[in-house]
Amino acid sequence: MRSDQIRQGRLAGERSAGIEHFLASMDADRRIAEVDILVDMAHLLGLRRRGIIDEAPARALMAALLDFHDDGLPAEAFDERYEDVHAGKEACLIGRVGEDIGGRLHMGRSRNDEVATCVRIRLKQEIIDLVRSLAGLRATLLDLAGEHLETVMPGFTHMQHAQPTTLAHYLLAYEQAFSRDTSRLREASARVDVSPLGSAAFASTGFPLDRDYTARLLGFTRPAANSMDAVAARDFAIEVLGDIAVCMTTASRLCEELILWSTSFIGFVNLDDAYCSSSSIMPQKKNPDVAEIMRAKAGTAAGALIAAIAITKGLPMSYNRDLQELTVHLWRGVDVAGECIPLLSGMIGTAAFDVERMAAEAGRGFSTATELADVLVRDYGLPFRTAHRIVGRAVRHGSLDLSTLEAAAQEAAGISVVDLGVTDERIGAVLDPRHAVAVRTITGGPAPAAVAVQLEEQRELLDRDAAWAEETDEALSRAFDDLISESRRMIT
Ligand code: ARG
Repeated sequence: MRSDQIRQGRLAGERSAGIEHFLASMDADRRIAEVDILVDMAHLLGLRRRGIIDEAPARALMAALLDFHDDGLPAEAFDERYEDVHAGKEACLIGRVGEDIGGRLHMGRSRNDEVATCVRIRLKQEIIDLVRSLAGLRATLLDLAGEHLETVMPGFTHMQHAQPTTLAHYLLAYEQAFSRDTSRLREASARVDVSPLGSAAFASTGFPLDRDYTARLLGFTRPAANSMDAVAARDFAIEVLGDIAVCMTTASRLCEELILWSTSFIGFVNLDDAYCSSSSIMPQKKNPDVAEIMRAKAGTAAGALIAAIAITKGLPMSYNRDLQELTVHLWRGVDVAGECIPLLSGMIGTAAFDVERMAAEAGRGFSTATELADVLVRDYGLPFRTAHRIVGRAVRHGSLDLSTLEAAAQEAAGISVVDLGVTDERIGAVLDPRHAVAVRTITGGPAPAAVAVQLEEQRELLDRDAAWAEETDEALSRAFDDLISESRRMIT
């Protein structure tokens, strides 16, 4: 085992395994190890292009990097004595081709711009995957909504029966939120998409690097404009963690709702057994454990965001080692969402919704009282506040039938609704939950035709988001393929 090439000059003595482990980022670095080799290739091509490195050492270095790319990094690159994969990989390179060659790759570069470049590349890939997962969840919600345009159910405010709506309207409400999460992630992706490479420690370098060239090789839109910002900034990570925390907060609300809906009190949904667990003592139990753990994972995602903010908020310019600890939380947040969103899609897609239970509850708790008040306004000319008071008083008396309504009108407003022309038949028609849904035809409302419009619009948005993920992924893969071809050309 070689000693750490970075410490040798300045620092004396051996470190304990405890200190080495404390400092090392190897676990998190496994995630960036592969792209770190691509970053090396791009940097090397850039050095060669500008004549900063001669052809012979460049070829030897590239041959070794291509071996690493083809076969994977040697295990030694992850030895904690090297603190991170960047140092471990350099040690392996030097071990393979000697320091006279291996010691030339890090010209004009620091681990500070190297790690920021690696994290940004991996995060771009992770965002593509998250957008894909969200697209899957949204497709599930949209498909289900399409089947339930006419399925009436009660809507709730304060968890009390409020007004009738439809299952489609409800599902599309969640889909709206996940579609906004998607656009937030897409917007964040554009800010992640700048290359720190060439910023070196923070003050860039006197070597005449071509930062546009290496940015392009690595599939970035452009180089970061300021080399100090490039190594110091982690707002891009905080932003994505924020987007993830927001998304998981919505996922958690949906889980909470599925948990409530699967109780025998409510009984609106029966989750597939695959998403449930039983009890070690109570043989009858079917518990919604996946939804519960997911609800908790939203807390983990929020924690990752808060950790990233707390780690960053005290840091002066430019790079501080604290930033290494932030990366752990970034991947934690990414992994939480990456695991939860597809599971949520599966859980909803396989759930059995009890449409009869929903229909039975749709009109309960005087949920059509608003519509009755509205009809007293629209058809019989009362001011809304008067109608509201009359209907409220009738509910206080426990019924919305004509005689109770008449008594309430006399009592609360000194008028007769019978004299206005209100009939039993009219009230009966108005109190039907289907009627309340049917008249809510305006933009965004629950009437089947209005929901069908929302459904169409959201399908188009979904198609565009799904296409973005595929195009962005292809562009990135193409850049990496080109980078590897260019690298192979150097050694042939
Ligand atoms: N492992 C470090 C990180 O993740 C890489 C940068 C180390 N830079 C340094 N000057 N020690 O941030």
